[in-house]
Amino acid sequence: MDAAHLTGLLEHLDIRGEDALECAGLLASKPSPGVSDAITAMEHRLGTFPSEGIPTAGQTEAEWIEAFLRFAPTVHEYHLGLGINAATSWASLADLGLQLRVNRRVHGRFGLDTWGWMTLHMAGNMFRLGRLQFHLVRSNGSESPSPSTAASGWELGVHIPEDGSLSPGVVDQAFAEARTFFAQHFPDKPVTEATCDSWMLDPYLAEHLSAGNIASFARRFTVSHCTDAPADAVYFTFRQRGLEGLEALPRKTSLQRVVLERIDDGGNWQLGHGRLAL
Ligand SMILES: CC(C)(COP(=O)(O)OP(=O)(O)OC[C@H]1O[C@@H](n2cnc3c(N)ncnc32)[C@H](O)[C@@H]1OP(=O)(O)O)[C@@H](O)C(=O)NCCC(=O)NCCS
Repeated sequence: MDAAHLTGLLEHLDIRGEDALECAGLLASKPSPGVSDAITAMEHRLGTFPSEGIPTAGQTEAEWIEAFLRFAPTVHEYHLGLGINAATSWASLADLGLQLRVNRRVHGRFGLDTWGWMTLHMAGNMFRLGRLQFHLVRSNGSESPSPSTAASGWELGVHIPEDGSLSPGVVDQAFAEARTFFAQHFPDKPVTEATCDSWMLDPYLAEHLSAGNIASFARRFTVSHCTDAPADAVYFTFRQRGLEGLEALPRKTSLQRVVLERIDDGGNWQLGHGRLAL
């Protein structure tokens, strides 16, 4: 890849500073067999609308990052072929840059412990529309779909990237954008419902932090059930993996206090599984 293409690619993927230097280093030599295998796995999935990520085949995080960098232009071309505009396509793939920055905060180094999450984007069916991400997937296997979702066979998984406030206005806008976008680009895959599986939908959170944006976001969804996810709330609030050393974490915001006090009291954070009509 020549210097101009490399600079353009890193900008499109929102990869900055030291991460950009590390990524340039990865692309300076020929891909290893591990990188080539990862690219082959992504080629097979592109356009097939998988709902799960690629399971590990022994690649290192650096190999996955290199594979994503080499494969992102192919996903972009696929998006353009669907009539999706270039800006929306790159905004969707630019989660890579954000994930690299988060990884630095979590581990203090270049890497991507969320490489499995990024394999979803590389199948071409994850889109950043305004404040939210929407994942167009088959609804078979989904719990308690509405009759219209069961009939169409498709639904949208909603994800919330870390990117400033989640005010109701920006959330409304993102859902409005999603309704238009999917009807326009995927008319043969009609969606009438969105699902969200998140620590933010644990009913305990809305009960104890009823005033904020997270609670207002959670109230949009009907939660059918919860499953144990004891470390998720800690990870997304403090960007710490695992539940060690919680006493050293800050309690400055109301969310930080709620997350830690529940654990102090012997409670267990959960994942709420919710859905809403679009
Ligand atoms: C989702 C998110 C944008 C919500 O932020 P928000 O709009 O500020 O949320 P709220 O209005 O509900 O915040 C309520 C309180 O929690 C605090 N808060 C929110 N997110 C916080 C975070 N990640 N870390 C620390 N405190 C946080 C706010 O500062 C506010 O504190 P205050 O009452 O003391 O003033 C934010 O939590 C975030 O970026 N999370 C990471 C991404 C994520 O969790 N995605 C879902 C994955 S399943």
